[in-house]
Amino acid sequence: MDNYNLHVEWIRTMSETKKIAVIAGDGIGPEVVAEAIKVMKKTEELFGYKFEFEHGLFGGIAIDEKGTPLPQETLDICQKADAVLLGAVGGPKWDNNSKELRPETGLLGIRKALGLFSNIRPAVVFDCLKDASTLKPEVLEGTDLIVVRELTGGIYFGEKFRREGAQGEEAVDTCVYNVTEIERIVRQAFEVAQKRSKRLASVDKANVLETSRLWRETVNRIAPEYSDVEVEHVLVDNCAMQLLRRPSSFDVIVTENMFGDILSDEAAMLTGSIGMLSSASLGEGSFGLYEPVHGSAPDIAGQGIANPIATILSVALMFRLTFGYEDAATAIETAVKNVLDAGHRTGDIAVDKSKAIGTGAMGDLIVAALRN
Ligand code: IPM
Ligand code: MG
Repeated sequence: MDNYNLHVEWIRTMSETKKIAVIAGDGIGPEVVAEAIKVMKKTEELFGYKFEFEHGLFGGIAIDEKGTPLPQETLDICQKADAVLLGAVGGPKWDNNSKELRPETGLLGIRKALGLFSNIRPAVVFDCLKDASTLKPEVLEGTDLIVVRELTGGIYFGEKFRREGAQGEEAVDTCVYNVTEIERIVRQAFEVAQKRSKRLASVDKANVLETSRLWRETVNRIAPEYSDVEVEHVLVDNCAMQLLRRPSSFDVIVTENMFGDILSDEAAMLTGSIGMLSSASLGEGSFGLYEPVHGSAPDIAGQGIANPIATILSVALMFRLTFGYEDAATAIETAVKNVLDAGHRTGDIAVDKSKAIGTGAMGDLIVAALRN
């Protein structure tokens, strides 16, 4: 190659380098994130992609070292990145802190600051793990659903205060949704449904809540634009029940912030282990934050026994949704499936706990199973 072409090649490679902000957080966060990075490095080798990692402090560790759960420099790192990989935050050490000094406040803050209004949580039952669930295998058969949760509105972000009432102290949390917030998340869910089985369940509490009535009206108003998608309105209490009774009848569920928080934990349990579930938090563009659905699991932190699969599958989601690297995304998912099919299990999903393998061993097996 002559100098000119070498230069062009160099620019091409550099511009394709994807910047990933890594915020490992607390508890098992750093352990599972380390395995996800191993997997990403292997995909550089196999598929020729290039990643640059920049690490930031977040959560409890940031409270300890910087006096705030979300330091400005961490936010800067995230804002400059193409995607964020997050481990987990929180732990008993910070549980009694005031609101500003709680790791969860950092999590809500980063979602808001990065405009991540849409949280996508797939719950897929792996055939070979059907026995790990508390539900009967025949109920779980064929379960493959996605919860699309609104992430920056509702009661989480409405005005909150305490006041002195006639009968003593009162606490107030307000739930607010405007039509723009509802429309953008519902549109995204319709688009997700269009790429899947074209069924959308919109979950609300329209028999009681005004925000839910606006939600339902908005869904009905824009539904004709997605006439290939069949919409069903489900009340949240009924949805909680149907998820246990006939989970396989759901495909895409769209709902507001708090209902989505609750239903996505319920959906997670269908799969047997919350240690398997990945999630994406997205805004308007391709930028996204990817994290396992599970928490920081302080009880097992530092022991090298956590299941890294949820974080590794979150990388697959990042590759697919932010970078459009479908080949590497599928390769990761296939590698995970093959390792599980071969019988390898971390403690959380092992039937025979004495045969369980550790975090690093699981990561290494998945790396070894990766193929182009
Ligand atoms: C989640 C978590 C958070 C939420 C908490 C930790 C603030 O439960 O991501 O689902 O409620 O959104
Ligand atoms: Mg939750």
